[in-house]
Amino acid sequence: MKQPTQRIRFNEVVTRDGFQMEPEFVPTDAKVALIDALGECGYAKIEVTSFTSAKAIPMLRDAEEVMGRIRRVPGVEYTVLVPNVRGAERALESRADELNLVMSTSETHNQANLRMPREKSFAGLREVVAMAQGRVPVNVSLSTCFGCPMEGEVPQDEVLRWADRFAELGVRGLTVCDTTGMANPAQVGRMSEALRERFEGLQLTLHFHNTRGMGLANLLAAVQAGIDRFDGSLGGLGGCPYAPGASGNIASEDAIHMLQVMGYDTGIDINRLLAVARDLPRIVGHDVPGQLAKAGLTTELHPTPCITTV
Ligand code: COA
Ligand code: ZN
Repeated sequence: MKQPTQRIRFNEVVTRDGFQMEPEFVPTDAKVALIDALGECGYAKIEVTSFTSAKAIPMLRDAEEVMGRIRRVPGVEYTVLVPNVRGAERALESRADELNLVMSTSETHNQANLRMPREKSFAGLREVVAMAQGRVPVNVSLSTCFGCPMEGEVPQDEVLRWADRFAELGVRGLTVCDTTGMANPAQVGRMSEALRERFEGLQLTLHFHNTRGMGLANLLAAVQAGIDRFDGSLGGLGGCPYAPGASGNIASEDAIHMLQVMGYDTGIDINRLLAVARDLPRIVGHDVPGQLAKAGLTTELHPTPCITTV
């Protein structure tokens, strides 16, 4: 029996999560060209850059210029990462369609990444939500929700407690992030059900890193628990420079291809996306972890190897 086609929406984070972790600065022209190409692929959102301190994240020091030069495709939301009030002012000035606020559910990771205790982050972000009201929608990305590389386990209740506090402020969406690939599919299933039950009216997104090879299994566990929004990073680039052992996100093209062959509707033109993915190693100057760009679509057949008889 054919399943009803379920719509899954993707947010492409390669130019933020991906490029923040690159060893070499990706030139502004290349960032703009890549975002323009991704804009034609059918994404719901693109996380363009972050308005962080240039000392903390030097690879994204050209945030204003990138936001000013990209071609905005109608129907695509151009979102940006914001850590504090200063970042929100810059993001609003740059006409971001959404502010994606960030803080960690682990005290140690928040200190390492944002150089302040969680309560101080929350107080600043509460101010940002007030600034954005009536202007742009706000999403909150909570880091280390499935484990912290320094503290270990982060209890699900602790994640829900922070999510509750932001929901009370009236944010539009929450992104629950597995910052260093510590999640497993059973845990993801439980978290997804709890989130859906508690935050019915919010846009709920999950964000996975493939650090231990569980990324696509985690995505599928979330889909099966009813989550329909995901972050992905082209080529599987990505990682937080302030989380020890961090490595790439799930590769968008691998995840989108998997869901499409299973019958889900992602709205993405996979052939177009694959062409962009195949150009990524040239842009960053090295091989990338994504597998689909190397293997091709399952529908791309190969000629039979010739059999020589002796
Ligand atoms: N944009 C640009 N500059 C900023 C800024 C922002 N959003 N926030 C602070 N700054 C500047 C200040 O103006 C100050 O500049 P100065 O040294 O020239 O006076 C400097 O950064 C330090 O400011 P301070 O408020 O003391 O910040 P900090 O050094 O404690 O850093 C953050 C706090 C949040 C700005 C910084 O840790 C950061 O940007 N982290 C981002 C981490 C990240 O993106 N990680 C990956 C994604 S999960
Ligand atoms: Zn990430």
